[in-house]
Amino acid sequence: MRSHEIRTKFLTFFEKRGHAILESASLQTTDEAGETNATLFNTAGMQSLISYLMGQKHPAGTRLVSSQKCVRTVDIEEVGDNTHATFFEMLGNWSLGDYFKTESIHWSWEFLTDKNEGLGLDPKRIFVTVFVGGKIDGKNVSRDDESVSIWKTIFDNAGLDAEKRIFYKLSDNWWSAGDNSPCGVTTEIFYDLSGEFSDGLSQNDFEKFEDEQKIVEIWNNVFMEYIKENGKVIGDLAAKNVDTGAGLERLTAVLQNVSSLAETDLFVPLMNIIRADAVIDSERDRRIIADHIKTAVFMIFDGVKTSNTGRGYILRRMIRRAVNSMKAIEFQTENTQEIIDAVVVMYDGVYDFASQKYLIDGVINGEITKYIKTLERGKRELTKLSSKDGFAFTGELLANLEQTHGLPVDLTLEIAAGMDINISKSVIVDYKKLKESHKEKSRSAGEQKFKGGLAGDSPKITALHTTTHLMLAGLRKFLGNDVHQKGSNITEERTRFDFTHSEKVSRDILDKVEEYVNTAIQSDAKVSMSLMKKNDAQNSNVTGSFWEKYPDEVQVYSIDSANENYSKELCGGPHVEKMSDISEFGIFKIKKEESSSAGVRRIKAVLEKNV
Ligand code: ALA
Repeated sequence: MRSHEIRTKFLTFFEKRGHAILESASLQTTDEAGETNATLFNTAGMQSLISYLMGQKHPAGTRLVSSQKCVRTVDIEEVGDNTHATFFEMLGNWSLGDYFKTESIHWSWEFLTDKNEGLGLDPKRIFVTVFVGGKIDGKNVSRDDESVSIWKTIFDNAGLDAEKRIFYKLSDNWWSAGDNSPCGVTTEIFYDLSGEFSDGLSQNDFEKFEDEQKIVEIWNNVFMEYIKENGKVIGDLAAKNVDTGAGLERLTAVLQNVSSLAETDLFVPLMNIIRADAVIDSERDRRIIADHIKTAVFMIFDGVKTSNTGRGYILRRMIRRAVNSMKAIEFQTENTQEIIDAVVVMYDGVYDFASQKYLIDGVINGEITKYIKTLERGKRELTKLSSKDGFAFTGELLANLEQTHGLPVDLTLEIAAGMDINISKSVIVDYKKLKESHKEKSRSAGEQKFKGGLAGDSPKITALHTTTHLMLAGLRKFLGNDVHQKGSNITEERTRFDFTHSEKVSRDILDKVEEYVNTAIQSDAKVSMSLMKKNDAQNSNVTGSFWEKYPDEVQVYSIDSANENYSKELCGGPHVEKMSDISEFGIFKIKKEESSSAGVRRIKAVLEKNV
């Protein structure tokens, strides 16, 4: 049976039983589902239905069915084995306060085993688990005897020994979409891939063969009765719901009688293209390429673009990981187009990829080109570094490559591996420790600075803060390096800045400082932060006061355009990224210059629009 037929059969089966067929929602979670579950992509069919499971009326009624596109990246490292894929479709049916356990279980059985309307699977190969009873998510929930008795009837009618088919578990038979979600007990349905256990099993053997993947879960029926908040059950749902999920890819493997997803018709055409072109024989890499390119096609189809954050970053990683595997087996990256085209053909009539083909091709090929350039740049950098005398890989070097060359550590490791440079585990551990301590230090430095001088972190205050750095640089330029910060206080209205200087500053000089700052904020200069050893920073031309209050590792903010360094100063942040974040508030004006205390002057300055 072809995968498309399985999907259609499922939808039709439940449609006949009063369910409205829903089109798959986008892969991208809606804000609500995303916020509730802290996931960027739908990871289950129910995710786009959360508000309805919580009680809102669904316009299509109380019985729903769909085949929902899902992406799960938690197990991305497992992709390449028999059962993991980052993209999959979840077949699901729902009751919103309508039917409950009896119908749900009976229909699942019927769909799986019926030869006409269903899949015609052999009942002797089916096993189930139910909730054993116990304390879960802060609540005492009793054994699910109702499901047990429904299953008993079913197995009895099929002439099978229910005792050897029904097993009991706790957390495996409890489901929610994270810490804030409707939830409840489940019954899971398993299939014996080996065909060896038609006489039934003991619970111990069942668990053993499940571990060995001779028996695999194919369907999860959740009986939602409770509401969970922050990981604890806090009460009952107004209405009881059913939420089920069956992975199309796994069901297809079962129906096509193969032991891995890669051998199903949802992967074979892609695997063939890769196998034909690659020089090196590695099934794992072939599977990674097929999986990741397919997932990328789906993500782009649903509106994701590559970027360095969020969904876009996951897409980027998918494509980059695929390229790494292509390189590993010497598959020509230009031939990725063939894989994309095959994905489009594979889902013809199900998802209209053709309408987005131009975009899909462009995003994937564009990212591949960009990544190859980055790899080459990184390689040059590593070659240069490693040819130096006494060169050794250290955690600090990894951090530095990331900071200054934009080479993320995983990429450096990949490039190094490709160059046969071995980076030891301890170096990576050092790197991680370093990152961790940077994070903490910048946090505490940031907090200190907030207390010290900033009345908040609004865009205006942040803009005035960066402007204050520029002003100090200007004052030092025109008054000399004896000028040091003594204090500062920034509100939405103005920056107030105290600095060491023995006499009144003339208006002429103030004008020059103003001009210096305004030139900078009209330029295309960018703000960048780097972490330096305090000693190194003190010995180079970094401006700073209160050195003794800073940790050994310090943050240095630089404001640079292509040909000018406007400021380089020790600071805890926060800062704007680019000068237009300042100039949008107007131009810089020094309103007042006065004495603060002996040897200390005070300036009040603003950003204001010219009127
Ligand atoms: N929502 C349930 C699952 O994802 C059906 O397993």
